[in-house]
This record gives sequence, C-alpha cells and structure tokens, in this order.
Amino acid sequence: MAHRIQASDYSILVSDKSVLTEFSEFLESNYSTSKKVIIADTNTLEHCLPVLVKEVPSLSDVEVIEIEPGEGSKDLSICASIWETLTELTFSRNDLIINLGGGVVTDLGGFVASIYKRGVDFVQLPTSLLAQVDASVGGKTGIDFMGYKNQLGAFQNPVAVFINIDFLRTLEKRQLVSGMAEVFKHGLIADKAYFEAVNATLSNVDFETIVATSIRIKNDIVQADTFEKGNRKLLNFGHTVGHAIESHYLETEEELIHGEAIAIGMLIEAELSVIKGILPDTELAEIYAVFQPFFPLKNIAEAQWEPIIKLTHQDKKNHGEGINCTLITLLGKGVINQFTAATELTKAFQNYHIRITL
Ligand SMILES: NC(=O)c1ccc[n+]([C@@H]2O[C@H](COP(=O)([O-])OP(=O)(O)OC[C@H]3O[C@@H](n4cnc5c(N)ncnc54)[C@H](O)[C@@H]3O)[C@@H](O)[C@H]2O)c1
Repeated sequence: MAHRIQASDYSILVSDKSVLTEFSEFLESNYSTSKKVIIADTNTLEHCLPVLVKEVPSLSDVEVIEIEPGEGSKDLSICASIWETLTELTFSRNDLIINLGGGVVTDLGGFVASIYKRGVDFVQLPTSLLAQVDASVGGKTGIDFMGYKNQLGAFQNPVAVFINIDFLRTLEKRQLVSGMAEVFKHGLIADKAYFEAVNATLSNVDFETIVATSIRIKNDIVQADTFEKGNRKLLNFGHTVGHAIESHYLETEEELIHGEAIAIGMLIEAELSVIKGILPDTELAEIYAVFQPFFPLKNIAEAQWEPIIKLTHQDKKNHGEGINCTLITLLGKGVINQFTAATELTKAFQNYHIRITL
C-alpha cells in the first residue's frame, strides 16, 4: 500500500516501484516543457537509473550529471562544476533538477538547486535507506567545508519526494545497517514502541512501513519547528558527537559511514544522559543490548577523544554556554538544549570505551 505524507508544501510518496509511475505523471502535469537534469552517483547511475528510465521513458534522453559516490562529493568544487553544466545548458528558473541517489546526492543536488539562479525546482528520489528515512524530509540541503560536515547549506524544500523502496535491493548491507541508525533514533527520541518493534523485526524488516513511520515522526517534529529554533533539535540526538566522529575519521584511512558514526554518537550521548543523571542506567543498558549486536561499534582510542571533542565545538547548535547536546531522559523521550562541558564528554567517551571493551 502506498503511503502519502504531507510535508509543509510538498508530498512524500512511499511505495514500491509503482511510485515511479506517479512520478512520471507528476512530470507530465508540471514539467512537460521544462529542461531536466538528473544528478546521480556512479552506483545509482548503474543500479537505479535504468529502472527509473524504464518506468519514466520521457527521461531517456535527459542529461545525467554523474558524481563520484561518497561524502567527498559534498564539496564546493563539485557544486561549481554542476553550476557550470547548468549554465552551459542555459538551465532556467522553470527547469527541474532530479536527484537520484543517497543522502550525498540529495544534499548536494538540493544545495546546488537552492543556489543556482536563487533557486530552481528539484525533486528528490532517495535511493539509500538513510536518505529515504531521513534526508527525504525536512528541507536541509548542504555540503561539507574545511573538514566540517554540512558547514554550508540552505533550508530548501523539494517540490516533491518519490520513494521507491525497491531501490534498496541493490544497496550494500553495510549501507542498510547505517540507515537503521536514524530509524532507531526516531524511536529513541519520540516513540519507545517503535524502537522496540523495529528491534523485534530486525531479521525481517518491512522497509515500506519503516520508511513511512520514520518519515512521519520526523515530519511531525519538523512541521512544528522548521528552522530548528526549538524541538527540531530533538533530531540531533547522537549527532553532536556522531558528526564529530564522522568528520574526524573522514580524514583517515578508517572512514566510518554516517549511520555507523551516529550509532556511536547516540551511545556516547546516552552515556552523557546517564552522567547528567537524567537517564536511568537500565535504559542505557537496553540501548546497548540492541545496538551492540547490530552496529559495528568502533572502539575509539583515548588519543582520539580530545580531537573529536574539539570538533563538537563547531556544532551549529552551540552558543557560548558549552556544547549543546540533545539527550534522552527515557527510551522514546528526547530533551533539547543540554549544555555540556568537555569534561563530561570525556567521561562519556570513557564509559563507552569501557562498556564496549568489557
Ligand atoms: N538533509 C538531511 O536532512 C540529511 C539527513 C541525514 C543524512 N544526510 C546526509 O546524507 C549523507 C549520507 O547519506 P547516505 O548514507 O545515503 O550516503 P551516500 O549517498 O553516500 O550513499 C551511500 C552509498 O550507497 C550507494 N547507493 C545509494 N543508493 C543505492 C542503491 N539503491 N543501490 C546501490 N547503491 C546505492 C551510494 O552510491 C553510496 O556509495 C551524509 O552526507 C549526511 O550528512 C542528510
């Protein structure tokens, strides 16, 4: 059964590949005379583009801009080369960018679209689990800069999002596991029953229901606070530390992918919640019991704690009173604006280290 979720001024459709027929009709009704480009990375070009073109034949002769897979493509130089291509194509305000890929393509393509000629329309066709459950909703677009994640970006909504669950069939297992980090996060900040239900079905996950449920949770939070002045910060649980870990290892041979870093970030921030006396130790133990067999939890050497903690100072939520973390007080209950000293964070890293090496 297809799911339709209404975000502020755009719809998100979640279904099997029949969603692409709806996409085709959407193009016919709204963009039949517009120029279009598809942005894809090498993998989605190989695995997803043929499916897309088969279901939407009108896209068969559309220009495809191919980028390298991976976080390294969320870079200003890649944006510049795409803007050059759009300029050469005399792309105008009435034209449409179609982003076909994981969160890297949807973040980059959304950002490129939001800046070019002060904004052209774009559609998101997210193809990874992470992009489907998370990057598909909320209007955040962006790229990395000077080694910092999402340092440059804009809030810009797509005109629509079409999610074909069948695209997940070609996604590597490591990437599927990574996407599940955000699914668990949605449960941990807002819905304990969802957290436990997902855990109970890990061997046979119903992705269509999971994607739709996660989007609904995120959408409800975003609708109430689009520009992250208040409760939208709930979605940052695990991300202050997780982004710092991701940025830190981005520069090394041991690169962690997004969800792997966020899973560790959630555990360290849950440790912090216990240190601050707002989360019972039994709840923390329950999160470890779910995460430890599921995620590849990296043992972060003591020498890395300080440089990682330094990176948390760049977090966009900070404003002078320490590191601003979103923590949890129970499974299913997030709490924002928990200002944290570097010493508390060090202790949280230490407790994580002890627990996963026990
Ligand atoms: N804007 C937001 O709200 C938001 C939310 C969460 C994450 N993000 C961003 O998303 C990015 C991570 O997204 P990601 O995990 O999707 O990474 P990604 O885009 O790099 O995709 C992961 C890998 O899977 C491949 N892939 C994607 N779909 C595939 C498919 N169907 N079949 C085969 N291979 C496929 C990609 O080529 C890539 O190698 C990060 O940059 C993060 O900051 C943004």
